[in-house]
Amino acid sequence: MDQHFNYGWGFMPDFHDLYRERGLPLSAERVDLPHPGKRMPLHYFGEADYQDLFSYEKCFAYKKDPSKRLFLELEGAMVKTRCYLNGVDLGERISSYFPTSFELTDAVKDGENRLLLVVDSREDPLIPPFGGSVDYLTFAGIYRPVHLLERPKTFIKDLYVSGSMEGFLKVQWELEGDPSDAHLRFEVFDGDRSLISFEGKDALLKGITPWELDAPKLYLFKASLYKGETLLETKEVPFGFRSIRFDKKKGFFLNEKHRKLIGLNRHQNFPYVGAAMPSSVQGIDADLLKREAGINLVRTSHYPQSEAFLSRCDAIGLLVIDEVPGWQHIGKEEEWRSNFLSMIERMVRKERNHPCLIGYGTRVDESPDDHELYSQAVAIAKKLDPYRPTLGVRNFKSSECLEDIYAYNDFSCHSQEHGLDKPSSIHGAKGKPILISEFMGHMYPTKSTDSVDRRLEHVLRHLRVLDDAFKYDRYLGAIGWCAFDYNTHANFGSGDHVCYHGVYDIQREPKDAMYAYRSQGEGIAPFFWVCGDPSMPGDIDESRKPPLLVLGNCDYVTLYRNGSFVQAFYPDKKDFSHLPHPPIWVDDWIGASFEEPYSPKTKKKLRQFLNHIAAEGVAHVGPKDYLHYGPLLLRTGLANVEKLTALFTKYMTSWGSEGVTYTIKGYKDGREIGSKTYGQSAEKALWVDPFGDTLLNGETYDATMVRLRVVDGYGTKLRYADALCHVETKGPIALLGPADFPLRGGSATLYLRSLPVSEPSLAEVTITTMGLSRTLAFRIL
Ligand code: GAL
Repeated sequence: MDQHFNYGWGFMPDFHDLYRERGLPLSAERVDLPHPGKRMPLHYFGEADYQDLFSYEKCFAYKKDPSKRLFLELEGAMVKTRCYLNGVDLGERISSYFPTSFELTDAVKDGENRLLLVVDSREDPLIPPFGGSVDYLTFAGIYRPVHLLERPKTFIKDLYVSGSMEGFLKVQWELEGDPSDAHLRFEVFDGDRSLISFEGKDALLKGITPWELDAPKLYLFKASLYKGETLLETKEVPFGFRSIRFDKKKGFFLNEKHRKLIGLNRHQNFPYVGAAMPSSVQGIDADLLKREAGINLVRTSHYPQSEAFLSRCDAIGLLVIDEVPGWQHIGKEEEWRSNFLSMIERMVRKERNHPCLIGYGTRVDESPDDHELYSQAVAIAKKLDPYRPTLGVRNFKSSECLEDIYAYNDFSCHSQEHGLDKPSSIHGAKGKPILISEFMGHMYPTKSTDSVDRRLEHVLRHLRVLDDAFKYDRYLGAIGWCAFDYNTHANFGSGDHVCYHGVYDIQREPKDAMYAYRSQGEGIAPFFWVCGDPSMPGDIDESRKPPLLVLGNCDYVTLYRNGSFVQAFYPDKKDFSHLPHPPIWVDDWIGASFEEPYSPKTKKKLRQFLNHIAAEGVAHVGPKDYLHYGPLLLRTGLANVEKLTALFTKYMTSWGSEGVTYTIKGYKDGREIGSKTYGQSAEKALWVDPFGDTLLNGETYDATMVRLRVVDGYGTKLRYADALCHVETKGPIALLGPADFPLRGGSATLYLRSLPVSEPSLAEVTITTMGLSRTLAFRIL
């Protein structure tokens, strides 16, 4: 029996001994799990604000059964949890990022029971990741689901099933209780269809479909535990058949097919609620990364993330590398070290059934060598899972590599000129495969509201690194820092407790750099993305009009000015020769639209000159240019400043040009795949993008995300809009966050949760900003 145990908890944001004896006071709030302990603002809060004791109380009726044992299992509560049942202290455990179990069997009574969980969310220097400085926040509360589990006296404590692409199955299990006369029977299902039934540690299934990134086929493994002829319990695990191989020269292979690993690091940090988001929103993150950003790998930096996130990665074919909690610091204390090693074990046990998982990060991110600790860490991981490699993330090149893969954070890119250091410079790898586990991040923090110049530089640096990742076969791939902006301690970030290192902001609004990844993604439908707005004359210094960068996977794009064809532009295979889809530079604003009656040769040179002035700015056109273009200007009568200016303004949208539109069209395989126009527009619209319209109260309440943007008549985001936004809800739906907030850079994201209902109900959410309003309807089940 697994009882939904996530609704209707009593909650107090403190703890007093009285709670243990008498229960929570009448003033206790009623909350549902997951619960953040304390809601935080988007930024400008202190990490001390949520570090506290929190009390959660639940009363439940129970009928004791002498053949059963009763457990309470928490999927995650930050940092430690003490459990009291009917006033009896059942101990305190480190619950942080791991499933944590309390046995209730002896303390539970027939009839009414009172369970009290006291969560201690204070940073404890003896528990990783704490003890030093940490560039992320752990937040608080019971932030993942809780289960009440009734098990037989003897039960399956752990079960691991690993399937290869050839259909070989290997099974490992552990029983708890009295194993005499107990035996296990296994069965594999494809949907409802039983494929095989067997006993023992392995089996071979013919004709299976392997788990692939574009077709992540999942099967169900069912274990039935018998004592004699009596069935005690069954346990089901979704799994996949797939093989992974890491070659030190040729890279990574999934089912013997080479894949360059292109990834992003993810923190499980959402606005307002920290990590306390239900499954669907955890899953939306996976969907965004796979289907929008087009990457094939996520590193769960720097701790094990929710089962919901991993299960979604299994379901959609997104590879994962996990990591033990930590950040640069290795504790000297015996207790810290033993906590660390037990976290290795807990991580592997939690995650090893996920086909998406391709490696364990068994070292504290960017920590120094520690032969003793890290040999033990690798040994624990290998014992529990001999089928996956270990890796350890360093920020230095010469290190003792006890793991299978040398992972290196390469922050050497500090301009567009250089992406990654050469693999041969990473001496510590000594013949082991190398993975670039981080790059960029603090080297170039960029906000979606930054100037177009900065956003462009951000994009180009990411592209430069990706180009090198594709260039060196020795690199398994590269994982950018990072997916989403995240909250951090005061000694990191931008002074507001945020690291603006994401290719998305913390609200999951993409920055231009997200499209750098998307454009390289496999299986992404043809698209293009224009970095900047060519119709905006005042957004670039000196009102210049430099080449426009277009990202995407098109064969070419065309430019139109006021509807007239200008020119076709092709991928920059020269500067980005290793990328599957190099960016495209739109670098001629005149092209075929040049009407003046000059010879084709003269037109070409004049176009060059005018585009050069536009790109560099009038003030930067110097003697060298006049020397070069002087004869041409004299010949064409354009040595006269007024005439030259008139010609320039005719073709370049600049300061004061009226009514100019630019249209860009993308083409793939000879077909137009999209078109985007930019121009001056007084129209405004509110664009909303809900991730679903049905919320299902199940094991926990449900939640979803609605991205919203104010756009002009051409659909271009009003990037500087910071107006107030007001949200009203009707029916069984609530906001996870404030109802009044400013747009940030023309956009915002709503996080909505369902409230419990007794029958299917309707709910409405009305969003109002800048005189615009949209109402969304939701079904709550
Ligand atoms: C790395 C670290 C990350 C993050 C990043 C910022 O050194 O591993 O957690 O702090 O720097 O760029």
